[in-house]
Amino acid sequence: MCGIAGVISLGDIAERLVQCIHNLEYRGYDSCGVAMVNGSPHIHVRKNIGAVAEVSEKERFSSLAGHTGIAHTRWATHGKVTRENAHPHSSCAADFSVTHNGIISNHERLRARLTRDGHKFLSETDTEVIVHLVEDYFMKSMSVEKAFVAAIRELEGTYAVAMISSHEPDRIFCVRKESPLIIGLGTDANYVASDFNAFVDHTKKAVFIEDGEYAVVAHDSHSIKSIATGEAVCREVLELPWDSEMAQKGGFPHYMLKEIYEQPTVVNSALDIDEAKIENLARLTVEKNLVLTGVGTTFYITQFAQYMFSIYGGATPLALSSDEFRHLARMNKDSLVLAVSQSGETYDTLTALRVAKNQRASTAAIVNVMGSSMARTVDSLILQGSGPEICVLSTKAALSQMIILTRVALEAGVLRGTITRKEANARIKDLRAIPDAIERTLNEKSGFIHTIAKAQSHINHWLFLGRERYYPVARESALKMKEVSYVHAEGMPSGFLKHGTIALIDEKMNSVVFMPPKEQKELYDLSMSSVEEIRARGGYILGIMLEEKGKPPGVFSDVITLPKAPSFVAPYLQMVAAQLLSYFTAVTLKRNIDRPRSLAKSVTVA
Ligand code: M6R
Repeated sequence: MCGIAGVISLGDIAERLVQCIHNLEYRGYDSCGVAMVNGSPHIHVRKNIGAVAEVSEKERFSSLAGHTGIAHTRWATHGKVTRENAHPHSSCAADFSVTHNGIISNHERLRARLTRDGHKFLSETDTEVIVHLVEDYFMKSMSVEKAFVAAIRELEGTYAVAMISSHEPDRIFCVRKESPLIIGLGTDANYVASDFNAFVDHTKKAVFIEDGEYAVVAHDSHSIKSIATGEAVCREVLELPWDSEMAQKGGFPHYMLKEIYEQPTVVNSALDIDEAKIENLARLTVEKNLVLTGVGTTFYITQFAQYMFSIYGGATPLALSSDEFRHLARMNKDSLVLAVSQSGETYDTLTALRVAKNQRASTAAIVNVMGSSMARTVDSLILQGSGPEICVLSTKAALSQMIILTRVALEAGVLRGTITRKEANARIKDLRAIPDAIERTLNEKSGFIHTIAKAQSHINHWLFLGRERYYPVARESALKMKEVSYVHAEGMPSGFLKHGTIALIDEKMNSVVFMPPKEQKELYDLSMSSVEEIRARGGYILGIMLEEKGKPPGVFSDVITLPKAPSFVAPYLQMVAAQLLSYFTAVTLKRNIDRPRSLAKSVTVA
């Protein structure tokens, strides 16, 4: 949801700055720009609509001289995708430039006042008020820092802002409120960025800024201060766990495919998470009234966990989509809100946690990004350790979350006495079969899945169906198909189909059915009834199931048979197969796989 970056050094930084926003492009990619101070009283800004590589070449970003600069890659919120609305935005005298991620909710009022006072606005964005406000205060105090702080104090909403000024060419000023911002400390340069992927090629040392603080960054130092009191704040320098190779494509044509192929490793990492951490969280889920929350993919993962808690954990928790959380949730001190998020920055999920805290609930989270806002907000945290997920679509992080939540649910079951320790251990042993089964799926089945995707790529409507724990897998798989291929897909319980949606079944509507293994007899039979109902109406049906004794039933149009594995792991493997189906459909349709239209990796606005 917009990536902001800044670099400050003693030498020219243009190329590094471009690299930073290139690395952040998954946060937004409709337009981009850079601003540089280079000795002139006017800041040089170059920007345009389009992706970083294209705009950078057209606008010759790399030829900008200067050693202090900021840059931005945009996901439009206020104002259309135009050159004027692209960041950075500058003051009337072009002596200040800002980049911003977030939403300034009082921008209309500020804009009216500043316009009355003679400021000329060039864009439709909420961001532009920030830079005019700073300019206004600077005229009164002639201090860049004082003007920056005075302006921030007037801002309402959410923001991460990086600002440069020709009056202080050796400083980058930055601030955050509910939008991510991090300082990177390099050997020959310092950085500010929305997240550390921006500068991971140059340094792994980072400092996190908290809400209510601002920072002034020089090429060899930085200071963090409280906005309210101006007092200096001391923050620990952290060593980041990821390195730059992890964020490269490594020979794969797309990050999505690379990340799908990383799943065996990621599952092992999830299984290696310290038992004490899992037990701790499980204990909390047993002691409190558990509410699970996430949004998009992570909501479906919490729904999957809801089934796991219900079947194995001895109680059915609520699972609420975090965007609706505040409208539904009624928490108290006996509640535990467990949030699930890859980025740890998603506005809706962060808001759910804030609402929960205000209602005196305990909070916990499973997140992938160390130091993210959620990681720093909650009372208990489990870090996934899945490595950087660059593709806008979540694949490996989602599977890891399923594994971790399954472990927590099993442990909760042991604590509640609904399952024995022996049974829990047997299921964990089953989970350990997943990495190998995924390897075999990738090696032996991708070709077939690719063939199906190609053959069905003319289809514009898909239903993804599943029962019980296979139902959230169906919903998640439908979301994958939609976001990467732009093909309409709906995920629903297979039992729900006959209550209306079945009217849509014809030769233009394909169905995917996530079949339970035969040993789950009742579930298997119920799922087969839905398959028969679709068949009777002439619809194409793709079954995804584990290899079992005997032939798959002939009613399916096509079957993806997954390698023999314990029946418990069927849904995890089916999800991987469905990821491949979406991926190959999007490849066939020549979609923008890693950065689908209109999306952003981390949605940090309401
Ligand atoms: O970073 P988060 O896991 O909190 O993100 C939540 C959703 O925005 C995210 O899962 C989204 O649905 C993805 N595009 C799914 O592929």
